[in-house]
Amino acid sequence: MSAPGPPLGLLAELTHRCPLACPYCSNPLGLARAGDELDTATWLRVLDEAADLGVLQLHLSGGEPLARRDLEAITARARERDIYTNLITSGVLLDEARVRALADAGLEHVQLSIQDADPANADHIGGYHGGHAAKRAAAARVRAAGLPLTVNAVVHRRNLDHLPAIIAAAGAMGADRLEIAHTQYHGWALANRAALMPTRAQVEAADRIVAEAREHWASRMAIDYVTPDYHAHRPKACMGGWGQRFITVAPDGAVLPCHAAAELPGTTRDRVKERPLAAIWKHGADFERFRGTAWMPEPCRSCERREVDFGGCRCQAFALTGDPAATDPVCDLSPHHERIATLAEDEAVHGPVPFTPRRPGNGPAPVTQPEEATP
Ligand code: SF4
Ligand code: FES
Repeated sequence: MSAPGPPLGLLAELTHRCPLACPYCSNPLGLARAGDELDTATWLRVLDEAADLGVLQLHLSGGEPLARRDLEAITARARERDIYTNLITSGVLLDEARVRALADAGLEHVQLSIQDADPANADHIGGYHGGHAAKRAAAARVRAAGLPLTVNAVVHRRNLDHLPAIIAAAGAMGADRLEIAHTQYHGWALANRAALMPTRAQVEAADRIVAEAREHWASRMAIDYVTPDYHAHRPKACMGGWGQRFITVAPDGAVLPCHAAAELPGTTRDRVKERPLAAIWKHGADFERFRGTAWMPEPCRSCERREVDFGGCRCQAFALTGDPAATDPVCDLSPHHERIATLAEDEAVHGPVPFTPRRPGNGPAPVTQPEEATP
C-alpha cells in the first residue's frame, strides 16, 4: 500500500524499570535491563525525528518513566518541538521537586494509575507497600501544580467488586478524567489471565456502574470505559489500526507498531540506532506486515467492517490462535470465537489464582492452579 500519513502519537517506553509489580502489566515477560536502555542523546534525537515526521503527541511511559533522571530533559525537548506531552506514571516516585521540574519543562498532562480504592488490596496488587497513599499524595501535587490529571484504573476479578469506590477515589483525587480499563491480556496480563479474568456477573455489574457514574459525575469528571474483549462479539480497532496512528519505541530502541508486538513471531525489530524513525514508520517490515487490508484472511477480507476494526488485535490473535494474521477471535465471525467465550467462562469460575508479580526474572504465572478464596 502507499506510504501512510504521519503517526498521531509516539509511545516512548523509556525504561522497563518500575517499583511496582502489577500482574496485568502489558510489558513483555523478558524485561529490558537498565544497561539496554537508550541514552539521553539518542532519545533527544528520536524526538527530533518524531517532530520532523509529524508526530503530535508524546506518551512518556515504561515501566516507570520517573525512574529516568533525564525525564525532564526529554519532556523539554518534546515541548521545544511542539509535541504535546503526557506522562503515564504509577506516581510513587512523583515527589514535589519532580512535579515542579516537569511542569517547568513543559509537561502538559499526567495519567496516574491506581490499583484499587482499598489501600491494602491496592498495595497487594501493585506489590508495593504504601503505594496507594503515595499515589494520593502525587495526585494532590499534580493538581497543585495546575496540571490536568487523568486517573487510570485497570480492572479485573480482584478489584471489580470495589468499582464504585474506585470511581469515588478518582473523584476525590480531583481527576478531570477517569479511565476504567478492563485488563487487556498481553505480556504479564496474559501469563496471569486466570488470576485476573472477571466473572460475567462482575462485567455486567461494571457496565451498569459505569453508566450510572457517567451521569452522576457528568459535570465534574469524564469517564472513559475500555470494555473487556473476552466478553465481546466484535473486536476493537487495536492501536487505531496497525501502523496507522501510533508508533512505539521500546527501552532498547526497537520501533514497533504496538507495545506488545515484540512478542509476535517474525518481528524484525528495526532499531532507532540503525535506521531513521521515518524510514521505519513508512517502510519497516514490521509496520507494513499488517497495515491496511491486503494481508487479511477471510472472513475479514470480504467483511464490511474491515476498515472499521482492521480485523482486531494482532497480538490477541497470536495469543489465542498461534497465528498473528488470524481474525481476532473476539469477533464472532472467527472460527475461534467459541473458544474465547468458553475460556472466559472457565477461567472466571475457577476462583482466585495466585498471580506472578511483574518482576525481572519471574517466570510465567501458574495459570491453571486453583486457589484458596474468592475476593
Ligand atoms: Fe472485524 Fe474481521 Fe470480524 Fe469483520 S470479520 S468484524 S473485519 S474482525
Ligand atoms: Fe498489539 Fe493489539 S496489542 S496489535
